[in-house]
Amino acid sequence: MNIIIQKIKKLSLLIVNCTLLIVNCTLLYSCSSPKNEVSSPDGRIKVAFKTNIEGEMFYDVKVDDNIFIDDSQLGFDAKDGLNLKNSFEIIKTEFSSKDETWEQIWGENKNIRNHYNEMAIHLANIDSTYLIIRFRLFNDGLGFRYEYKVKDTDKIILTDELTTFNIKENGVSWSIPASFETYELLYRTLPLNEVEDANTPFTFKTTRPQDYKSTSLSVNESISSESVSESVSIYASIHEAALTDFPEMTLKLTAQGSQLKAKLAPYPNSNIKAIFEKDNFISPWRTIQISDKAVGLINSNLILNLNEPCVLEGDLSWIRPMKYVGVWWGMHLGVESWVMGDRHGATTENAKRYIDFAANNNIDAVLFEGWNEGWDSWGGRQNFDFTKAYADFDIDEIMRYAKTKNVEVIGHHETGGNIINYENQLEEAYRWTKEKGINCVKTGYAGGLPDFHNHHGQHNVRHYRKVVETAAKHHITLDVHEPIKPTGIRRTYPNMMTREGARGMEWNAWSEGNPPEHHVMLPFTRLLAGPMDYTPGTFDILFDNTRNSPQRKKWNDNDKGNSRVNTTLAKQLANWVILYSPLQMASDMIEHYEGHPAFQFFRDFNPDCDWSEALQGEPGEYVAIVRRAGEDFFLGAATNGSAREIEIPLTFLEKGKSYEATIYSDGDDAHWETNPTSYKIEKKTVSSNDTLFIKMAAGGGCAVYLMHNS
Ligand code: NOJ
Ligand code: CA
Repeated sequence: MNIIIQKIKKLSLLIVNCTLLIVNCTLLYSCSSPKNEVSSPDGRIKVAFKTNIEGEMFYDVKVDDNIFIDDSQLGFDAKDGLNLKNSFEIIKTEFSSKDETWEQIWGENKNIRNHYNEMAIHLANIDSTYLIIRFRLFNDGLGFRYEYKVKDTDKIILTDELTTFNIKENGVSWSIPASFETYELLYRTLPLNEVEDANTPFTFKTTRPQDYKSTSLSVNESISSESVSESVSIYASIHEAALTDFPEMTLKLTAQGSQLKAKLAPYPNSNIKAIFEKDNFISPWRTIQISDKAVGLINSNLILNLNEPCVLEGDLSWIRPMKYVGVWWGMHLGVESWVMGDRHGATTENAKRYIDFAANNNIDAVLFEGWNEGWDSWGGRQNFDFTKAYADFDIDEIMRYAKTKNVEVIGHHETGGNIINYENQLEEAYRWTKEKGINCVKTGYAGGLPDFHNHHGQHNVRHYRKVVETAAKHHITLDVHEPIKPTGIRRTYPNMMTREGARGMEWNAWSEGNPPEHHVMLPFTRLLAGPMDYTPGTFDILFDNTRNSPQRKKWNDNDKGNSRVNTTLAKQLANWVILYSPLQMASDMIEHYEGHPAFQFFRDFNPDCDWSEALQGEPGEYVAIVRRAGEDFFLGAATNGSAREIEIPLTFLEKGKSYEATIYSDGDDAHWETNPTSYKIEKKTVSSNDTLFIKMAAGGGCAVYLMHNS
């Protein structure tokens, strides 16, 4: 009996194996047309497209002729019998190339090279679905998107995206968990095959052994040759570009190894992901940035290149990078309040104090939160009024005063998530704001959305888009908190300047805070997508002036009453350079800057940079980034919880020129935990032949202003 069972088992195993073999062969046979392959301009990255016998679609990615992303599925599931996933046949394949340099009015780099090879696969299936899958390959990665058109339908409802990223080798990854509500989460360093789900940018590194022949001289000087194995690492990041009318894409681990599948944010209580009241749709680009070095990901312009050119016309001088301070941190610490009362921050008197400070310290603008009516019902379903200032905030007088001091005012629209209330006032709110003389608005979505929509679904993506377009119409720039993740639409709408979309400074005021590695994680993850309004610059790191104050009120239940900032002071300065934002805030209360020698760095800082380069770094470990603004340079370096020494050759400086370097570094006895405010300032004259030796304390950093000598 046992023998019979074993025989049956063996036979079924054989059948399974054979079936697998047949499936593999099918895939292989129908795949191998070289016609459907495209390379990056430098030839290092290759993508091949293929269909199997069922007309399902797949792609793979090779780097240096080694499989990097193995056969991975493409397509969508849809409702009402629409077939967007199989029975496809290739009608034709078109190839094209582009090499252009375009200019943006602000950004890490003003001039950007857009150099790619494109392969557009035209497909059709028996169910009258036409599809172009457009692959663009750059030297720094690739993007692909779906362009669907379905005959005889006036509605397309997507229920699932089938796109997968079947990463060949296991490796290490850096990401936040997937959430359709928030990006304000802590980063995890995880083996690829242990990432259950993640939001994007999803950054990872794979390593594969590479065999090569090593020739060496042995002791008796005879030449010997042996095969040596060396490992080759590839850094990559999966994200999306041009998310304009779609739900966000998160990633989910499937059963097989490190295969990640797209998971779209759904409509409330349903399996519906996207609704198009028409017969066609174009997806955002699915992107994979690829580099030999981690910093190569930061230096990539792929996301911007995959967005449409600027649509704003005429004089765009109303869009400009700015440094700002604000009536803000006091509220998060609990010593001031948004709501009108005895601790109210946004009073006329306080506003004038901040405006004076900005005028005296080479700061362009001041943000006022808690200026308008509606804060009294915080925590419920707020109905903010965006055209009604609190009685103790004399907006006309404040605007008049700010004008005499040549200081801009940044308006604030906290919606509390009530986008219905916001949309009802949108047009009038932006008209009114502009009329008052305000050119920039910070928005916020702290709270659940009406009708159980989630923050990152198609419904809210459409809302965010509407706000960007309305603001543009009224010549207003935006800083969005609790936003949809950046996907490069700042190229098309450069008034969409900066946004939050990760744990920012505020978390240090009322939670366990952002750990030291957080700031050296962000540049390799969240900031690959676009600028971030992290709001660096706390000088009163231990909140000495506030913690014991009887005035202080707990902000919320996260507030343990013992919060602090988990960095050194020098790292706070470095973050102004590292955490790129065209609207860069010095976020502490101004009394902590008055008379502080290290604040000179912010006075000198120019947020309107022309060129940037990430020089060194590893995710979660350390980073060094330099930016040029005009003829001057700003350098920021930071480390995680480990002290570190790095050398930076100043080869980026203009040859033959000398520069006055002001170096703000950690004091010899500095440590983020025990002695965070120990710092020193040195000055020296340097040129491009010099090397800077930077010593960073645990949780520390270094900021350098390199002023050109005329
Ligand atoms: C959360 C934002 O991130 C923060 O900057 C703002 O102060 C509060 N919401 C209140 O609007
Ligand atoms: Ca926030």
